[in-house]
Amino acid sequence: MRIIVEKDYQTMSKKAALMVASQITLKPDSNLGLATGGTPLGMYDKLIEMYRDDEIDFNEVQSFNLDEYCGLKADHPNSYHHYMYQNLFNEINIQKENIHIPDGAAEDSQQECRDYEKSIKRARGIDLQILGIGSNGHIGFNEPAENLNVATEVVDLTEETIEANSRYFDSKDEVPKKAISMGMATILKADRIVLLASGKNKAEAIKKTVSGKISTQVPATLLQTHPEITILLDQEAASLINKEDLSADCHFEICE
Ligand code: PGA
Repeated sequence: MRIIVEKDYQTMSKKAALMVASQITLKPDSNLGLATGGTPLGMYDKLIEMYRDDEIDFNEVQSFNLDEYCGLKADHPNSYHHYMYQNLFNEINIQKENIHIPDGAAEDSQQECRDYEKSIKRARGIDLQILGIGSNGHIGFNEPAENLNVATEVVDLTEETIEANSRYFDSKDEVPKKAISMGMATILKADRIVLLASGKNKAEAIKKTVSGKISTQVPATLLQTHPEITILLDQEAASLINKEDLSADCHFEICE
């Protein structure tokens, strides 16, 4: 595991964008796993900037999003489809047929989950997966539980996640209670993973994520089993990390 601590949200976002850009430079037909939420917005802004400056070309890139709310159509303003088009896809030259997001409004959501897994396999897997993290340690919508899903499944959102995401809706009651989410193995099969976290409210979850212990009650702790995982943080999100808890092969780097 590699932990990189940047000064603030802006520098963290810039470094994340550089990591995505170098992946695409090395392999123009990369498959990117993408995340939604507040955290990756700065990274998406930087990527748009780099695209406009001719530093990055998305023409051959395929994208696979982590999750989507059940019951929201693609054009719903709170759907992750809408988020991705608004915050990235409308501004870059990614081909529409190369964009993959689970269909939360699918009539048969179980079939949609199976089809989504197949579409990732058909593309030969994800080269670089970008992740955010919930303050409860969820990744995608893999919520803390005794058992976690292996593959893409319909999941129930926890009260904590509904509360956290209600800031994007008119009221808490409008937040969908279910979502389609990539499973833990879907995520862990990516060749490389970059997890982003910013702010004090993520510090406790990050402390546990890098602690050297694994628990399904903090799904992000499973990332410690991945051979190519980078945790990219700002100082606030890193503020509770205890260096003594880190495993011997963990690389810890503070950027001033
Ligand atoms: P956030 O969400 O980036 O809006 O904090 C992250 C997550 O819930 O995975």
